[in-house]
Amino acid sequence: MEFKLASLENIDGVLALHQKYQIATIAEEDKPDGFVTTAFTREQLTQLIQAEHGLSIATHGGQVVAYVMAASWQFWSRWPIFASMIEDLPALTYAGQQLSTENSYQYGPICIDKAYRGSGVLEKIFDFSREQMSARYPVLVTFINRINTRSYTAHTQKLGLEVIHEFEFNNNHYLELAYETSKRLPPAEA
Ligand SMILES: CC(C)(COP(=O)(O)OP(=O)(O)OC[C@H]1O[C@@H](n2cnc3c(N)ncnc32)[C@H](O)[C@@H]1OP(=O)(O)O)[C@@H](O)C(=O)NCCC(=O)NCCS
Repeated sequence: MEFKLASLENIDGVLALHQKYQIATIAEEDKPDGFVTTAFTREQLTQLIQAEHGLSIATHGGQVVAYVMAASWQFWSRWPIFASMIEDLPALTYAGQQLSTENSYQYGPICIDKAYRGSGVLEKIFDFSREQMSARYPVLVTFINRINTRSYTAHTQKLGLEVIHEFEFNNNHYLELAYETSKRLPPAEA
């Protein structure tokens, strides 16, 4: 398994994985194990790679089996849910800091092919992405739909993210979470 920042030739693999688990296209039987909310175009992923250096992937046998997206709030601001989160940021504090678009970035979505879940890929790709962003931002911020209980358990119990806020958007209830990017995850237990 290889963990790296994606380049343009990885976009097809990322989009194929994304389509399998995005809410509009996911198989009904896969929904209880989590889904991704936001839809992406090829152009948006190109910008994520080239301008943000924010697309981390795990590959195995030449296939993209997991990805994590991470980028400035400016990148995310074109989607209404993120525009709303940006408005609320100054009212939130984490690790003793009032949050802003300068001291935090938006992590996610994360997606792992179901054949690779529960195998430690979660911790490794999260930590790889965190490391890429830590020099630029002290705080990671993300959201999880309250009904995505697998993602909530993974992020709070296994990765140590903390809930800082709850909000409604388009009739969905979301939890907003944060993490200090200086915190390296301990190596997974053998
Ligand atoms: C969310 C995701 C990244 C988590 O990675 P993962 O490899 O599945 O995570 P893990 O299996 O290591 O950890 C999940 C934990 O939740 C538990 N869990 C499994 N199904 C669950 C469920 N339906 N509800 C609550 N907890 C659940 C698991 O038992 C595991 O804990 P354990 O190892 O202590 O038993 C992955 O499931 C995924 O890509 N899902 C589809 C896309 C998605 O939901 N992305 C996140 C959007 S916010």
